[in-house]
Amino acid sequence: MTATKTVETAIPTLTTDRLTLRPLDSSDVPDFVEIWSDAEFTRYIGGRCDPDSVWHAMAGNIGCWALTGVGPWAVVERSTGSLVGRAGLWTEPGWPGIEAVWFIRRDRWGRGYAREAATAAIGWVFAQRPDLDEVVSVILPENTASVRVAEQLGMTPQRLEFLHGEDHAIYTITRTAWAAALPAPAVQNAH
Ligand SMILES: CC(C)(COP(=O)(O)OP(=O)(O)OC[C@H]1O[C@@H](n2cnc3c(N)ncnc32)[C@H](O)[C@@H]1OP(=O)(O)O)[C@@H](O)C(=O)NCCC(=O)NCCS
Repeated sequence: MTATKTVETAIPTLTTDRLTLRPLDSSDVPDFVEIWSDAEFTRYIGGRCDPDSVWHAMAGNIGCWALTGVGPWAVVERSTGSLVGRAGLWTEPGWPGIEAVWFIRRDRWGRGYAREAATAAIGWVFAQRPDLDEVVSVILPENTASVRVAEQLGMTPQRLEFLHGEDHAIYTITRTAWAAALPAPAVQNAH
C-alpha cells in the first residue's frame, strides 16, 4: 500500500459576476444540511442526506483539497451573502480525471449559477495545472439539468463508466476546446 502524500494547498477564493467561490467552513454545515434534505435536489445524487452524512461529505470535500490540490468550494451569492451551493472540482482514486462538479440549492435553479461557478473552477484548474489536458464531468444520463450545464460549458459525452454502483455518462472538455471558447476568467483573490 502506498502512503498518500498531503498536498500543500491554500484554497483560493474566486469571484465571478454574481458569485463568490470560497473555502468550505464549519459554519456552512446547517445550510448544507438544509440543501441536502431536499428530495428533489438529491434525486440524481444518491438521495437525501442526514446531518451526519452531510458533515462527513464536507470533511471529504475539504480532504480532497488536502490530498489532491483541487476540490469543491462553497458558492455564495454576492448580492445577498447567502450560501447557494457547492461547486468546483473533485477527484478520487479510480475516477476518470479531474471532475467539474455543481450543486445549487433548488430555490436558485435556472439562474445560470451552476454554469457560472463551473466556468470559474474549470478556468482556475486549467491555469493551475499546465499538464492537465482535459476536465471531466460524471453525470447520470437522466439528470437533464446537469447534462445541460455540461453542454453549455462545451463538454461532450465520451462514454459510460460504472462508478459508485451506477452507469454514469463521462463528459469532457479539452484544454484546447476550453481556450477556444474563451470563457470570461474569474478573479482570484488572495486568501
Ligand atoms: C444541475 C444543477 C446544478 C443546475 O443548476 P442551475 O444553476 O439551475 O443551472 P443553470 O441555471 O446554469 O442552468 C443550466 C441549464 O440547465 C437547464 N436546466 C435547469 N434545470 C433544468 C431541468 N430541471 N431540466 C432541464 N433543464 C434544466 C437550464 O434551463 C439551463 O439551460 P438553458 O440555458 O439552455 O435554458 C441543479 O439543478 C442542481 O443542483 N441539481 C441537484 C444536484 C445535482 O444533480 N448536481 C449535478 C450532479 S452531476
